[in-house]
Amino acid sequence: MYPDHVAIIMDGNGRWAKNKGLPRLAGHKAGVERLKEIVEATINCNVSFLTLYAFSSENWNRPKLEINDLMNLLETFLNKEAKKFLKENIRLRVIGRRDRLNRRIIDKIKELEINSDKNDGLNLIIALDYGGREDIRSAIINIYNDFIRKNKAIERLTLEEIENNLMTKGIPNPDLIIRTSGEYRISNFLLWQSAYSEYEFVSCNWPDFNTSIYIEVLKNFENRDRRYGQINEY
Ligand code: FPP
Repeated sequence: MYPDHVAIIMDGNGRWAKNKGLPRLAGHKAGVERLKEIVEATINCNVSFLTLYAFSSENWNRPKLEINDLMNLLETFLNKEAKKFLKENIRLRVIGRRDRLNRRIIDKIKELEINSDKNDGLNLIIALDYGGREDIRSAIINIYNDFIRKNKAIERLTLEEIENNLMTKGIPNPDLIIRTSGEYRISNFLLWQSAYSEYEFVSCNWPDFNTSIYIEVLKNFENRDRRYGQINEY
């Protein structure tokens, strides 16, 4: 079976551009084209959830110019793809901090989330200003306040309550996490949620990742023996 939830760390846009003697922005633009192709392929493969790591909490440390370029690309993407989401029955959700994004992007995200809320096709989750540690930190704050309010002993905290306070509430944990560009790191992505995820590290840069490589990766997943810490019969 193909995974139910695929998450992707789209890495290597900068190196792709550099190898071609192009500015980094050209790499990010090519990355957006890839992203659109992979969303279509995900729909065609009947994978229910796709999470894309578009901007990490740490990406704010990049030069201001590159941050502006990425935010502009994101805004154009959200504006241009909005109609398509509705037409293709995609439900969009964005995980991450909202308070550091610009007002127009925040409003657009809200609008798209509300308008696509009833869609029951692909669940597309974009991780934007997202960091796994921040996700866990904000869950701890919510849980703490809730427990104080209810005068509940912290020892009664369940794993389920933690999951329900993460930004991914209601979204199943990723079955497969793909990272492009030959780097073997998780980079603060879905730290709690990836406890039993399978990983696939692909050597090509994100703008070179295409549908046929993607399908190969999905097929490889079918051969994984997921034991969740148990033993299978032998
Ligand atoms: C990694 O390449 C990629 C990113 C920082 C973000 C991914 C962004 C896109 C695919 C485009 C914008 C997103 C949307 C949703 C419109 P890198 O710059 O880290 O590459 P490098 O490691 O080779 O420098």
